[in-house]
Amino acid sequence: MAKITVNDFIKKKADSKKISMITAYDYPFAVIADEAAVDAVLVGDSLAMVVQGLDNTLPVTMDEMLYHTRMVSRGVRNAMVIGDMPFMSYQAGVADAVRNAGRFLKEAGAAAVKLEGGAEVREQIRAMSRADIPVMAHIGLTPQAIHRMGGYKIQGKTEEAARRLIDEAHTVEDAGAFALLLEAIPMSLAKSITDAISIPTIGIGAGPYCDGQVLVLHDVIGLFERFVPKFAKRYVNLKEQALHAVNTFREEVENGTFPAEEHSFK
Ligand code: KIV
Repeated sequence: MAKITVNDFIKKKADSKKISMITAYDYPFAVIADEAAVDAVLVGDSLAMVVQGLDNTLPVTMDEMLYHTRMVSRGVRNAMVIGDMPFMSYQAGVADAVRNAGRFLKEAGAAAVKLEGGAEVREQIRAMSRADIPVMAHIGLTPQAIHRMGGYKIQGKTEEAARRLIDEAHTVEDAGAFALLLEAIPMSLAKSITDAISIPTIGIGAGPYCDGQVLVLHDVIGLFERFVPKFAKRYVNLKEQALHAVNTFREEVENGTFPAEEHSFK
């Protein structure tokens, strides 16, 4: 199988084939995601919460994002690796944004970057695209704006807010984004946006009418318990299985059944 590129994203939309994307933050889970043949692996800044144990995504740094993206790139052969631009790596100016986005490609093996925002980051998207850095935009619930939004709330519920999001979608498309992530918006709005633009939409909490779907890995495999969003689906409870394994190990150490002869040298 060949490496997935931005052209495959565009073609999938044209062919009405769904795009699958999942987050990963390290080598072993990148290998799993790639073997599962997802189209893209997002090294999301959600790692601040699900890996680093922080309360929100704001504190994670560029260097930490690059560190995790490098690990993921080593584990991925076919999927597109997308680096998520952390808070304040692109908001302050276009030059900053291009330089930081470029680091994901140059230093960490990513093939694209994602950033949050619509009209307010139009110039950043335009400049990155001109620098040959594929950009996925992200509108709706944008977790880096948690303090402005007053929490993690569904967006685009009023007619005016919905119209604004449709405008934002056109803006990021015109600026050169190759795809658009829609987070936590009503499914009818996600459908209107998906129908209105030529670039693929990837939904999370945006219903079934998007061109693709993304989930946070730790929600999918049951490794993040602090809160589970309504839109997440848990396919396995790895926390339970890992806890059982480590508990059994401890018991076997305490009762002397581990190590057995086959784990020992003569
Ligand atoms: O950081 C992240 O994991 C995200 C999700 C919306 C997929 O941006």
